Amino acid sequence: MDKMVVLAVAVFVTLSSCAVGCSGNTNSTELKLWSMEDQSTAAQLAAVFKEMERIRCEQTTLEQQQHALTQMHAASQKRRAQKKVGRNVLTYGTNDEEEDNLHFSEKDSRRRGDPCFHYTVLDQAWRATNTTTKFKMCDRNVKWKGWYRLFYKGKSIQMPERCVPLNKCGTNSPLWLAGPHPKRREGIVTRRVCGHWKKNCCAFRSTPIKVKKCLGNYYVYKFTQPSSCYLAYCADINTLVCGQCRRNQYCESRDKINWRCKTKKTSSKKIHFFVSYPGQLRGKVNRIKYSKVLVNMGRAFNRRTGVFRAPVKGVYQFFFSTQAASAGLKTDLWLVVNGYWVAVSHTHISRPSTVGSLSMYMTFLRRGAVVYVTHNCGRSWANAASMTITFGGSLIAQLK
Ligand SMILES: *[C@@H]1O[C@H](CO)[C@@H](O)[C@H](O)[C@H]1NC(C)=O
Repeated sequence: MDKMVVLAVAVFVTLSSCAVGCSGNTNSTELKLWSMEDQSTAAQLAAVFKEMERIRCEQTTLEQQQHALTQMHAASQKRRAQKKVGRNVLTYGTNDEEEDNLHFSEKDSRRRGDPCFHYTVLDQAWRATNTTTKFKMCDRNVKWKGWYRLFYKGKSIQMPERCVPLNKCGTNSPLWLAGPHPKRREGIVTRRVCGHWKKNCCAFRSTPIKVKKCLGNYYVYKFTQPSSCYLAYCADINTLVCGQCRRNQYCESRDKINWRCKTKKTSSKKIHFFVSYPGQLRGKVNRIKYSKVLVNMGRAFNRRTGVFRAPVKGVYQFFFSTQAASAGLKTDLWLVVNGYWVAVSHTHISRPSTVGSLSMYMTFLRRGAVVYVTHNCGRSWANAASMTITFGGSLIAQLK
């Protein structure tokens, strides 16, 4: 707990000293106010208002950063709590508190020097790939020091891995990562950085940077001074938006600048099955357990129970067949839908003979409807290869 607070304060100090960008601004504003003493009070007042506005703006940024840090802090507390539970289960008879302390200091020493825990928060909305500002920024003017983590209004974000259009990211030539972000096991990697200019996505081959993936799915970057002005490192708004798309959504963009989650069109489900019974049936069999499954697209047929369950509402077509083999006996197979006997396959032969029969049925079914075949009476013949006692069906049209 204490350690986290110290870390947060350390980051906070780095922020408020404004290593990035604004320290120069502060000085120049102060100088301006000093040199205004001989001007009209109205002009001085206006300058003071402007300065207040700037401070307010800065305050907002700091509040956002504070919010981000609070979230990170909460998340790491949660992870620690989870780990502790796991450990308690595994260790018997050790003093828990001692173990915990030991573990923590051990982890702490490993953390020391790990950029995943020592970085500066870089939360500047103008760096987003979808912003165009009048005032162009140049990262060559920044004294880069150590590692940075990109945020967009308090939300973790990463650099783009593709060419960014000109004049985005608050600069003329946006800098993007010419290579994939690393996996966690790769540790720290070096990546080329490209600046887009005049139809050339890599017109500026800027100084390479270092990147690391951290636990918790974020990246830290060791930025360096770009080779010239106006170049600035980008924050890919797409990673923010697309990361929030749900499972039935995809991320869409016409211009590769603005992105949004779109719900996938529900394409008609494909449901088909064809199964057979590889033996003989005599007398009453309440539900034929067709054990040979040849087709089961959509997995709606259950081999164990012999039941087909409609996974969606729609129009279904079924067929079922048998090979009756007996003299003087009726052989009846019924198709049963939701407990109702709806179609029969009937044979009645008087001479010792055998005859095949096939019946079909088409119906509307609600989702969850249950369909199976019952052998009501008589004798049916099949062997493993004959495909004479069969059952099958298809979803023909899905309905809303
Ligand atoms: C950029 O994208 C973010 C996230 O979708 C959005 O909130 C913001 O308004 C966009 N900015 C511009 C200038 O379109």
